[in-house]
Amino acid sequence: MARKFFVGGNWKCNGTSEEVKKIVNTLNEAKVPSQDVVEVVLSPPYVFLPLVKSILRPDFHVAAQNCWVKKGGAFTGEVSAEMLVNLDIPWVILGHSERRALLNESNEFVGDKVAYALAQGLKVIACVGETLEQREAGSTMDVVAAQTKAIADRVSNWSNVVIAYEPVWAIGTGKVASPAQAQEVHDELRKWLAKNVSDDVAATTRIIYGGSVNGGNCKELGGQADVDGFLVGGASLKPEFIDIIKAAE
Ligand code: G3P
Repeated sequence: MARKFFVGGNWKCNGTSEEVKKIVNTLNEAKVPSQDVVEVVLSPPYVFLPLVKSILRPDFHVAAQNCWVKKGGAFTGEVSAEMLVNLDIPWVILGHSERRALLNESNEFVGDKVAYALAQGLKVIACVGETLEQREAGSTMDVVAAQTKAIADRVSNWSNVVIAYEPVWAIGTGKVASPAQAQEVHDELRKWLAKNVSDDVAATTRIIYGGSVNGGNCKELGGQADVDGFLVGGASLKPEFIDIIKAAE
């Protein structure tokens, strides 16, 4: 079964309402492949989600950058999965390496969040990826497998999961993984899913790449057999994001 190309734009903690409107207006006017060819999901900071959703073209969708691990209540500063559902936000990014590193989100905590968000009806972009130290120690696949296992242990229906492989050393550094490096890990991850989950989940789950993707390198990366799209940070705030969407063609 063909996996539809997926391009996510993770705006991280960036933007003013004026800047957000400008980015959305640029995207709204862009000529890009149809929804049958590419799924485009933008992830602004929480406070801009309703604004972006209200002005964004209907063939693009939005994602939150995080959500809480269980039902809301006395958790100051958190936003629950139920609230995202209530606002018709279809997607959420979970387990981003910045949160894993800066906020000490463990594999188990991320797995719990993924399972809870899916159970509430959200679709999840689940991030995995190794640090430079881990890559140099030869443990890339062990790290990525452990992160994926924590999700697999808690999730039985993978139809609303996209895995984002984001090597930490490539994020925001300009040091993009080579197409061969990305393909190698995506292929290994797919084999891991086949062995530990099912052949069907391995064949149908989209595995997207993130880390210094830009208008210049997207075509070759996206041409790899197991690279099903991108999660883009810095370049998703710029007009070149349109070129990255077009890599789906
Ligand atoms: O989630 C996207 C990301 O972490 C990659 O960021 O700026 O390297 O494209 P960037």
